[in-house]
Amino acid sequence: MKHFIAAFLLFFSLTINAQNNPPAEFLVKPYLQLGKKPSPQSLQLLWHVQISNDVWLTEYKNSDEIEWKRSEAPTFKTVAVGTIVPFNVYSTCFTSLKPGTMFQYRVSKNGKIVFNSEAKSLKSPEQSYRIAISGDMGAGNNTARKIAYEIYKTKPDMVTIAGDIVYNRGLISEYTTKYWPVYNKDDADTLGAPMLRSIPFVAAVGNHDALTRDLNAYPDALAYYHFWDQPLNGPESKEGGAYVPTLLGSDANKKAFYDGAGDKYPRMTNFSFDYGNAHWTVIDSNPYVDWNDSTLRDWLIKDLATAAKSTWRFVLYHHPCFNSSRAHYEQQQMRLIAPIMEKGKVDIVFAGHVHNYQRTYPLTFKPDNLGNQLVAGANNIKTGKMVNGRWALDKKFEGKRHTKPNGVIYITTGAGGQGLYNPEQQKDTDSWQRFTTKFVSTVHSFTIMDVNGNTLILRQVDINGKGVDTIKITK
Ligand SMILES: [Fe+2]
Repeated sequence: MKHFIAAFLLFFSLTINAQNNPPAEFLVKPYLQLGKKPSPQSLQLLWHVQISNDVWLTEYKNSDEIEWKRSEAPTFKTVAVGTIVPFNVYSTCFTSLKPGTMFQYRVSKNGKIVFNSEAKSLKSPEQSYRIAISGDMGAGNNTARKIAYEIYKTKPDMVTIAGDIVYNRGLISEYTTKYWPVYNKDDADTLGAPMLRSIPFVAAVGNHDALTRDLNAYPDALAYYHFWDQPLNGPESKEGGAYVPTLLGSDANKKAFYDGAGDKYPRMTNFSFDYGNAHWTVIDSNPYVDWNDSTLRDWLIKDLATAAKSTWRFVLYHHPCFNSSRAHYEQQQMRLIAPIMEKGKVDIVFAGHVHNYQRTYPLTFKPDNLGNQLVAGANNIKTGKMVNGRWALDKKFEGKRHTKPNGVIYITTGAGGQGLYNPEQQKDTDSWQRFTTKFVSTVHSFTIMDVNGNTLILRQVDINGKGVDTIKITK
């Protein structure tokens, strides 16, 4: 009987969903993005379809409005790389949203509504908000899917991914199987949830998103540039320069990639935006970046200085530099910019890459070398730069009675789906570096951050929805 009721309910929900969103031959159903110039009034909507002469139209209305209004006329870019069947990526902008509220939108093809959804606009500075943060999510396995469901259940206003968006090489074909079906699933269950259509996702690139650069071997690599639409307000960069390696491959394959990526390549890896009362700076932490290059450093210094008006400052990148795990320990290159984080009064740095959860004491750090040399880690592959130095730890802060940190808190939240690293270290506190105060490596987890004015509550939530760490920070 139980099985019969479950089957009936599943059929009923699928029927309802099919009625709401009849098939429209979407290759990828609509998903929200920050767009080039994020604001509480605007959001970008993208979707993928096969190449055709169909006419697409999008409309939306805020919760207190009765009339639908049209968004900007959708534009598209064709992606035609390798053996992937060419397709169009459509894009439009909702420009008159009411900040921080639910709104409705619908997408029409040739005059017929083929998709509709509710969504949430970006918050304005006076509004409170909840953000989910996790790295290393895009494995597409059952663990990543369950984490997606648990994130969905917490009802975040936005999700930020600390890199390794999609395994194993950030390919278009990998997004097809491991990303869209999980985070833009039609209904919510332990296999995924309809998040991409209803809240914005923001991402930093990880090694798995950015290091596959041979377009002869993998013509559909660097899908990040085809699919994401994030601000281009970072420094101008050019291939083969201080922070973008050269692409490999035939001229034809490179041209096909450039045509699809447009002006997003290579600039879209370092950028910033405001959300609520916070400023977010998103950085490419891959070891090919030369942090001794003044252009990128100066941009970062200036970006954080202009963010002084924001109550909170968060930085998102992939490779954690204050990491106690034996895994990836040598990848310390982001220590080089710790003084910039401190001077820019960054509150929290979020990273992934290491597949567990770690929290440092609030700290300041003085590097004593330039970290120029790539060194070998596991498997004898040169993947990181060691940066020694001196740190000062604020051990008084415990996020309960003492809530005003003296220094930057570094969070590693890379337990979003891939196999956990170093579970044996969780209880072995002697194996932790001095800067680590919390280390959870026996269970998958993600971060939830609630910000209300001058108060911030950070919680690490495990795959079963149970809290494994909580701190409060106040201004
Ligand atoms: Fe990684």
